[in-house]
Amino acid sequence: MTAERRVPVWDIPTRLFHWLVVVLFLFSWGAAKYHHMDLHLISGITLVGLLAFRLIWGFIGGSTARFAHFVRGPGAVLGYLRGKAPHRPGHNPLGALSVIALLGLLLVQTGTGLFASDTDGLESGPLASLIEFDTSRVAAKIHGVSFNLLLWLAGFHVVAVLFYLVVRRRDLVTPMITGSDSAYTDREDELVRAPVWRFVLAAAVGAGISWWLYRHGAV
Ligand code: HEM
Ligand code: HEM
Repeated sequence: MTAERRVPVWDIPTRLFHWLVVVLFLFSWGAAKYHHMDLHLISGITLVGLLAFRLIWGFIGGSTARFAHFVRGPGAVLGYLRGKAPHRPGHNPLGALSVIALLGLLLVQTGTGLFASDTDGLESGPLASLIEFDTSRVAAKIHGVSFNLLLWLAGFHVVAVLFYLVVRRRDLVTPMITGSDSAYTDREDELVRAPVWRFVLAAAVGAGISWWLYRHGAV
């Protein structure tokens, strides 16, 4: 009997990013729903720093986290749908579309939150004072719309992961937790990790942005 070979697929920062996004997204939602705006702003601002980190990591991070690795043209998506694309570690060309949409909507959600104000102007994002009140109300409206879109998209995302698990018999969740996957037969395309100093740099920029926003908004 041959031992199961597990190929490294996701680096630690990408996995940490994902599960922190899940926790903070749910927390931000709950805090807004139960009107704990102080907690909502703290978790939202933390998410802004986390997204800044992920954007940087998309250029200097481990190979499978890089945008250049998974942002592909329509040809690659069609090839994947026809079953012609090679099976390689990382987001597949179709899944990558939902990843880009999720990251994009999270950016809209947090970006508008920074400038949003409620109707009496008492609950405001840390940058709302930089713009007219009416404009910050528009930001709040977009914040509400993008939240609904995000809920649908995140729901679809989880259903897609379950579809792979149940119908395709392919477990994508364990690799997002442990970092490795046994579904690959050769190690040619396996994850190439980035050096630690790059993580320190990206994390420092993300943390710096969140820290500045906390200070600026005096949350
Ligand atoms: C418990 C629920 C969830 C599970 C089980 C889950 C699972 C996964 C898995 C397995 C992947 C990797 C997909 C692949 O192999 O290509 C992934 C990626 C991703 N998920 Fe989730 N997810 C969950 C909730 C969420 C939520 C709520 C959000 C955002 C609101 C989210 C945002 C993302 C993003 C942005 C990526 C891409 C990760 C990256 O490359 O940085 N996920 N998720
Ligand atoms: C993914 C992260 C976020 C989620 C899921 C989220 C979700 C929500 C929801 C559901 C509401 C209530 C909307 C309503 O009752 O009409 C809300 C309001 C608000 N959020 Fe966020 N938010 C997020 C990030 C942020 C960030 C980063 C900030 C600013 C730092 C922020 C600032 C605000 C403000 C000021 C309001 C009040 C606006 C109003 O009442 O019209 N949010 N958010």
